[in-house]
Amino acid sequence: MTELSSLILDRIRDVPDYPQPGVLFKDITPLLADPVAFTAVTEKLAGLYQVDKIVGIEARGFILAAPVAIRAGAGFVPVRKKGKLPSETLEASYDLEYGSATIELHRDALAPGERVLIVDDVLATGGTARAAVELVRRAGADVVAIAVLMELAFLKGRERLADVELHSLVVV
Ligand code: PRP
Repeated sequence: MTELSSLILDRIRDVPDYPQPGVLFKDITPLLADPVAFTAVTEKLAGLYQVDKIVGIEARGFILAAPVAIRAGAGFVPVRKKGKLPSETLEASYDLEYGSATIELHRDALAPGERVLIVDDVLATGGTARAAVELVRRAGADVVAIAVLMELAFLKGRERLADVELHSLVVV
């Protein structure tokens, strides 16, 4: 295991039965509270790809994506849950266990051909990341990669992202 992997894994807290019975929640707040670990994660993500824009996914994705954008010298662009962005949007929906969710991107947030890195904290089923890829592509920009702090391999999210480069700092 690399030094960065253990820095991350030692600072992610498993919370059983949250937000519902049977779910083991991965709580990243201990990692965020440690400046050495948070800085190491930010620097690693910022150094992976040369891009014009970092797209962060609400809400926990924002926490990582904003410092990564600054560190990478790239702009930050939010993908938000439906109804939160004030100007004209593109929207994409994806299935949840019960029902569906919709996320949005400002229609003019990305220029055609811009190089984009999508950043989020956790890849689980991949539904959120898949929808974010579609939004960025519909805006005319290029998805260089998706980068996540943690990939939950047993949920097979990677299979839904076969056409995209996916970089996970840790896989559990
Ligand atoms: C979590 C996480 C990812 C997404 C991953 O966000 O931050 O965005 O779920 O799940 P998936 O791969 O199955 O789509 P959540 O929707 O819980 O929102 P939050 O960040 O606002 O807590």
